[in-house]
Amino acid sequence: KENSFFTKKLLWWNEQSNNRTMPWKAEKNPYKIWLSEIILQQTRVEQGLAYYNRFVTQYPTIEKLALANDDDVFKLWEGLGYYSRCKNLLATARIVAFEHNGIFPNSYESILALKGVGPYTAAAIASFAYNQPYAVVDGNVLRLLARFFGIATPIDSTIGKKIFTTLAQQLIQKQPPATYNQAIMDFGATVCKPQLPLCTTCVLQKKCKALQQNEVSSLPIKTKK
Ligand code: ADE
Repeated sequence: KENSFFTKKLLWWNEQSNNRTMPWKAEKNPYKIWLSEIILQQTRVEQGLAYYNRFVTQYPTIEKLALANDDDVFKLWEGLGYYSRCKNLLATARIVAFEHNGIFPNSYESILALKGVGPYTAAAIASFAYNQPYAVVDGNVLRLLARFFGIATPIDSTIGKKIFTTLAQQLIQKQPPATYNQAIMDFGATVCKPQLPLCTTCVLQKKCKALQQNEVSSLPIKTKK
């Protein structure tokens, strides 16, 4: 019952009030989705935007990226940090371009097998590019689920990862995967924010466990590592 309330209100909010615009949002090209998600792995949307735009302008296809000089690509990456991401980006572009005939893999497992792609990024590509029902579970999603469902299990514990992934996977069933995943991330980033969440106008407030129990500011919980 909470589950259908949650998905219904979330999609309603997405249609009525989500005014977050990002260039990869309407994108179905798996290369561009992949590129945007690699850039956004350890980078905020506001910072990643300009890099994403420069990359797609300079390298509009995965073949162009595969044929680039390493130095040029690293130069374009400069400022984003975590340079192993850039190294994996180039390696993957070359594998897809030269070993897979330029055809981006389209199953969750084959996407997950790419260098630099973990469960989050594989779910993002499978859902956004191919509309497959794999739930994204990033920091925004974890915070929203922990608060709405009142889950105090640490999000970075083994059991916590299992609990949140299973719940997220249940929620996406019967929902349009790409729309739903983008909506839940946008909602976490703009409404159910870490600081000063917009609870008084939130479409989920009626059934939000954290709000009822005055635990919004204490969820989600992380183990001290
Ligand atoms: N962070 C990672 N991927 C994102 C996306 N598709 N939209 C918004 N934030 C993101």
